[in-house]
Amino acid sequence: MKLEDILVRQQEAVTAATAAADLASLEAVRIQNLGRNGLIQDIMAALKTAEPAQKREFGQRANEFKNAVQAAVDARRDILQAEAEAAASAFDTSLPGSWRGLGSRHPVTQIIERATEIFQAIGFSVASGPDIEDVFHNFDALNTDPGHPSRDAKDTFYLDDGRLLRTHTSPVQIRVMENRQPPVRIIAPGRCYRRDTTDATHSANFHQVEGLYVDRKVSLADLKGDLTYFARQMMGPDVKIRFRPHFFPFTEPSVEYDFSCHVCGGKGCRVCKHSGWIEISGAGMVDPQVFKAVGYDPNEVTGYAFGMGVERIAMILLGIPDIRLLYENDVRFLRQF
Ligand code: DAH
Repeated sequence: MKLEDILVRQQEAVTAATAAADLASLEAVRIQNLGRNGLIQDIMAALKTAEPAQKREFGQRANEFKNAVQAAVDARRDILQAEAEAAASAFDTSLPGSWRGLGSRHPVTQIIERATEIFQAIGFSVASGPDIEDVFHNFDALNTDPGHPSRDAKDTFYLDDGRLLRTHTSPVQIRVMENRQPPVRIIAPGRCYRRDTTDATHSANFHQVEGLYVDRKVSLADLKGDLTYFARQMMGPDVKIRFRPHFFPFTEPSVEYDFSCHVCGGKGCRVCKHSGWIEISGAGMVDPQVFKAVGYDPNEVTGYAFGMGVERIAMILLGIPDIRLLYENDVRFLRQF
């Protein structure tokens, strides 16, 4: 290596470093010039054998070579690293988004929303109460005998503090009447809990829509008329309704009510198990004892109340054969509705 070659090599190396396209080729340039077998070693070897008169200048040039190449490599590395970081966080707003599909409302939600619209259209408003209830609202105020089997811990989820998960939406009736004077016209959709073993038609967690209408001279005919209106709106214009005598502690008289089968028109088919009728739930005239519990005067007002099973209506209306499908949240199932 001759003295006058050093500057040429230095310029070549600086140019190569500055032009390096990425960190790997930059490192190659560094090794080629400053590495253990790099050009710098040739220069140092030449320095040793240089003539004494040239040694000083040779040494200076060698140092300049080292410093200049190192500086060029460092500068280029800073730039390449900054570029790589910027690229990693870059976000191209002009790219099209990826479509993740629209969700759909859960069948239970659909039925609750539809039922709410239907009752709102005839003057009902929506009320709600807590899922964790006390014994008073869930049983006592609803005239449920202390020995009534539904209170048993076999059937009801009790909390350690004596409260419980409400077994029906009927306690919302009590909460509303405690806070309002008649007339009252509400529905109360919500979750209920019972210690039921799960099978195709039972679930420990299900939904009801409660209804309550209290005013002067409300009658069983009002109940039948309003439920008929509801049934026709919900199931179809030709659906009929029938009452069967029953017992509930909080109504007197009490009925269970059925809708005529909307699939076969009452002739009998698989959906109605060949009876022509589909059992919906219970209803009746509010028991005077319930009015007393909330401070209403049973001589002044009368009222009707009803409950209905939301899952039941969803299954019948949407043709869902197993209640468990409603809780598995398999999107292949839910997407159909
Ligand atoms: N709470 C009852 C149940 O869960 C259903 C029911 C029956 C509600 C009669 C009522 C009613 O409001 O009047 O089985």
